[in-house]
Amino acid sequence: MMRVEKMLPSILCLVVSIAAGSAWVGNAASLPAKQIERGFSATHDPSYSEFQPLLADPNGVFSLGFLRFNSTQLELAVLHLPSSVPVWCANPARPALWTGSTSFSFNGTLVLSDPETGIIWSTPTAGGDRLVLLDSSNLQIQKLGDPVDVLWRSFDFPSDTLVQNQTFTSKAALFSTNRRYSMRLGSNYFALYMEVGKDPAPMYWKHTAMEARAQIVPGEGSIYARVEPAGFLGMYQNEKAPVDVLPFDTFSRGISGLRRLTLEPDGNLRAYYWNGSTWVRDFTAITEPCGLPSACGPYELCSTGEPRCKCLDNSTDGCLPADSGDLCGSEGDDFWVLRRKGVDLVNRELLGFQKVGSLAECEDSCERNCSCWGAVFNNATGYCYGMDYPIRMVVEGDEGKVGYFKVRGNAGGGGREGGSAGKSTRAALLVIGVVIFAGAAGFGVYQVRNRMRMIGGVDGSMTEGLAPGPYKDLNSASFRSIELSNSFKK
Ligand SMILES: *[C@@H]1O[C@H](CO)[C@@H](O)[C@H](O)[C@H]1NC(C)=O
Ligand SMILES: *[C@@H]1O[C@H](CO)[C@@H](O)[C@H](O)[C@H]1NC(C)=O
Ligand SMILES: *[C@@H]1O[C@H](CO)[C@@H](O)[C@H](O)[C@H]1NC(C)=O
Ligand SMILES: *[C@@H]1O[C@H](CO)[C@@H](O)[C@H](O)[C@H]1NC(C)=O
Ligand SMILES: *[C@@H]1O[C@H](CO)[C@@H](O)[C@H](O)[C@H]1NC(C)=O
Ligand SMILES: *[C@@H]1O[C@H](CO)[C@@H](O)[C@H](O)[C@H]1NC(C)=O
Ligand SMILES: *[C@@H]1O[C@H](CO)[C@@H](O)[C@H](O)[C@H]1NC(C)=O
Repeated sequence: MMRVEKMLPSILCLVVSIAAGSAWVGNAASLPAKQIERGFSATHDPSYSEFQPLLADPNGVFSLGFLRFNSTQLELAVLHLPSSVPVWCANPARPALWTGSTSFSFNGTLVLSDPETGIIWSTPTAGGDRLVLLDSSNLQIQKLGDPVDVLWRSFDFPSDTLVQNQTFTSKAALFSTNRRYSMRLGSNYFALYMEVGKDPAPMYWKHTAMEARAQIVPGEGSIYARVEPAGFLGMYQNEKAPVDVLPFDTFSRGISGLRRLTLEPDGNLRAYYWNGSTWVRDFTAITEPCGLPSACGPYELCSTGEPRCKCLDNSTDGCLPADSGDLCGSEGDDFWVLRRKGVDLVNRELLGFQKVGSLAECEDSCERNCSCWGAVFNNATGYCYGMDYPIRMVVEGDEGKVGYFKVRGNAGGGGREGGSAGKSTRAALLVIGVVIFAGAAGFGVYQVRNRMRMIGGVDGSMTEGLAPGPYKDLNSASFRSIELSNSFKK
């Protein structure tokens, strides 16, 4: 059973490659253009199974076109053709459907539209003369002249990936394809964040510039980052010398294959190089089994033992449901409290903390603050760490650390402490109860599925020492192949 599950991705992958191959061969008559001039338009042709090319780079390695993703959706993407991995996506707010008649047009502005919904996505620039895809995978809207003026470039709007030589600035962010995680640059660091609708988003990993070869000079401009062909992620304030060098495994080994850095759907940041037939992984930001926000679910405790994830409330039939937002609404006091000794937070060092006199003081400060979801008190240091996001990333800690966790809703059972019913009326409570029950039932199913997926991956990840999460032993390339293959099943 498990073995079949493990083989399935590669089998599907093979099927997809064959299918994709024949799709391209089948449409060989309409080779994609090398440049697109003002006035061009094309409509999506659903007879392509996975990708409809529109524009090619000079070497035929990258192509801009309509990409099918998540089975039913259509995205304007730049694809690395040998691997079918998208290196850029337009990422409209409302994704178009693969079965729809989305059209692509260039009239100085690049526009994706649909007869029913109108404009789905467009570039903010006007007055472009041509659209070109460079051999670096950078898509550019250019205004002809001497010199050629670049009005818009896809390199300024990355999606989940940076390719080598692509400059990443503090104006840009990487988002995982599921939009749950992001990567941004700060004043002297870059970090990974959980996108839980909070501003600022909670951080779960941070890399600070070492400033070994050059110092960051305040007021001399923001820093930027770039994946270098020599095999490292460099942070710079200017071109003279990097302020940080984050080396990949193949640093300075003369690898000439294309490199990319991708923020993956499990929240990990990984680098790869293309060796001519596959993407070889040579950097993983988070290697501790409990270090990823996706390692365990909400209200779960991650441990290095087996099973990796347990419910914080010791329940064996599904943990407490996921939550979002904060507790600041009109039912702000509508929560109950779960306490647990011997817990810690993976990202403790990245959270705000205050020194308090006692556990009671720590709990009290969280209790009175509706944007606080929980707190961990360390009685050895007197530090109180507050979580301003729904409970996640809890790990085992020593007995001196005590966790205080809010759970939305009325006390779920007789023996639970804390919590007040709030000002809600009986009727409202009944409605909330029904909703919570339905949610919990749904979540139970999700949990069981999630558990099964996790169990399916445990052995692989232990032997290879890879990061955890539902996608843990799939590299990004194969993950994307699954996304593609899912659509193929249809
Ligand atoms: C280009 O097309 C878009 C969408 O149809 C339209 O809003 C825009 O005004 C057009 N621009 C020019 C210069 O024709
Ligand atoms: C990256 O930049 C270097 C130096 O500017 C250049 O030699 C190389 O061709 C570039 N690589 C790509 C893929 O653009
Ligand atoms: C994929 O499709 C499902 C169902 O249509 C949707 O719920 C989910 O949000 C989609 N995922 C992404 C990453 O768009
Ligand atoms: C690329 O890497 C894969 C997996 O490590 C290996 O099987 C393959 O032989 C390599 N290809 C080349 C051209 O080096
Ligand atoms: C759960 O079990 C642990 C260890 O067995 C215990 O220390 C803890 O108090 C229990 N928590 C709850 C909420 O029952
Ligand atoms: C932590 O709390 C326990 C129990 O209240 C106490 O026995 C212990 O001395 C405390 N540890 C420190 C370092 O204060
Ligand atoms: C409320 O709690 C959050 C998270 O712990 C913290 O960031 C914020 O500063 C707190 N607000 C106040 C007013 O204490």
